[in-house]
Amino acid sequence: MNATTLRQLFLDHLRTHGHAIIGAAPLVPENDPSVLFTTAGMHPLVPFLLGAPHPAGRRLANVQPCLRTNDILEVGDAHHLTFFEMLGNWSLGDYGKETAIRQSYSFLTARLGLDPARLWATCFAGDNDAPRDDEAAAVWRALGIPTERMLFLPKSENWWGPAGITGPCGPDSEIFYDMQPGGPPGETPTSNPARFWEVGNNVFMQYDQRADGSYHPLAQHNIDLGMGLERLLPIVQGVPAIYETDLFAPIIEEIQALATRSDTFALRVVADHTRAAAGVLAAGVRPGNTDQPYIARRLIRRAARYGRELGITGPFLARIANVAIDTLAEAYPALTRARANICAALEEEEARFGRTLARGEAELQRAVAQSTDELAGAAAFRLYETFGFPLELTQELAARHGMIVDAVGFAEAFAAHQQRSRQGGAARFQGGLAERRPETTRLHTATHLLHAALRQVLGPHVEQRGSNITAERLRFDFAHGERLSDAELQAVEALVNVQITRDLPVICTGMDVEAARAAGAIGLFGERYDERVTVYSIGDFSQEICGGPHVAHTAELGYFRIVKEAAVSAGVRRIRAVLGDAP
Ligand code: ALA
Repeated sequence: MNATTLRQLFLDHLRTHGHAIIGAAPLVPENDPSVLFTTAGMHPLVPFLLGAPHPAGRRLANVQPCLRTNDILEVGDAHHLTFFEMLGNWSLGDYGKETAIRQSYSFLTARLGLDPARLWATCFAGDNDAPRDDEAAAVWRALGIPTERMLFLPKSENWWGPAGITGPCGPDSEIFYDMQPGGPPGETPTSNPARFWEVGNNVFMQYDQRADGSYHPLAQHNIDLGMGLERLLPIVQGVPAIYETDLFAPIIEEIQALATRSDTFALRVVADHTRAAAGVLAAGVRPGNTDQPYIARRLIRRAARYGRELGITGPFLARIANVAIDTLAEAYPALTRARANICAALEEEEARFGRTLARGEAELQRAVAQSTDELAGAAAFRLYETFGFPLELTQELAARHGMIVDAVGFAEAFAAHQQRSRQGGAARFQGGLAERRPETTRLHTATHLLHAALRQVLGPHVEQRGSNITAERLRFDFAHGERLSDAELQAVEALVNVQITRDLPVICTGMDVEAARAAGAIGLFGERYDERVTVYSIGDFSQEICGGPHVAHTAELGYFRIVKEAAVSAGVRRIRAVLGDAP
């Protein structure tokens, strides 16, 4: 069974159980300043988990490309990735725990043929915020999982969400698969994570976590299931690691063909990071020093660095990316369309890194000169973080100077950094979809009016390239070659304000993507094909594919004002605008 069949089987399974298949969200979330990347299928659904009606119904499923960098250092083992596809299904206040667990169990055992005797389940142990999850445990027992293969674990293990620091969350029940049946008795998913892979997680999203950390029961009890496509693949293909499946084996082979040294860990890092970089670059991100561009840079440089570990000289990432794109081309045609741009960006960044590398080597010389017999952990970490030097490389180079590296100090600096980046990640979520306020909803509707007005004034070549909304302002990036003249800006502003004065109704309709295209809807079609999408119409003025939410009538917007127009990059302009009272 290949990856295509696995995706299909999952969606078929959920369709049979009454779920509507919805489109995947973009990898860089729309209209959400609080996150860098989509990290789970549930993230774009936050407003609907909090109770807004979803136009496709109460039972949804999809396959969502996600990017997570928290565990970037785990990449290289058999089953961790930065960029992965999440198989997801949701009940928005519809079915409950029992149905959710049975549905996941029958997918894994009846559809995929996993051995029920190798499955383990974990349930929430209970604390002051929520009781012990005996209900989930009873369902697992009824399905035949004996108590020996069930664990009750605390919040640190068996609670998922919120995606940031506020929003929907709840106890969860994780599903593990024993990859070494017959291994040492007494081992459990907690004691040996390399042996027991987490393959799925049913989250019972029934609480809203507030900014003060308190939990409030949600009126609507939801289910949020996520399964890792890449982790199920080796199991159904009977191979011991993700990297040996049809999604990865061709990438590994291509790297091996160039390598002069063998190093499994390095091979895997190059494969994962190049694939992830391709996904990020396909989303329009270019390497830089902050936010998404920084992540792109980090992935590319780490891949280039590990390529050198393998003895690869000269630029090679574009060659690897081409193979990675081939493995995903059928499921994600946009990757193929972006192929030339992805390869060009990789080549450019690799060349730039080549120049930094020399500086890193100079820095190492300095650090060595300042030390006596041991290189400080902090210095090794700086080389690691700034120049992409793996600890082993620093150790090797230091050894040439008769020096050892303080590996414990390195690990401490490393852990402190990870802690900071996790906190940073959490802070970023403030003001996210969970806190969708009336101000942001109004600005979101204004963005649709702006988009349509720009197309009327400048022409149909205007296409959205990015959108970012806070409670204070909207920011809209679009394809257009030149600076907008004052007359054009005034015309756009006036056109939007006319639509506001007309008090047009905003109506949301679910339709097939082909029907949406035929109806002339604009917006991010992206990877959506052969599926239902939601289209928001604003009177006769705008029709756009979008996840919402929006106001009901345009008069709620007040008065629209453009505050700034500037270039973002070649061929892309940016407008900032606000809503207020009429002058
Ligand atoms: N949102 C849940 C997870 O990512 C399913 O594990």
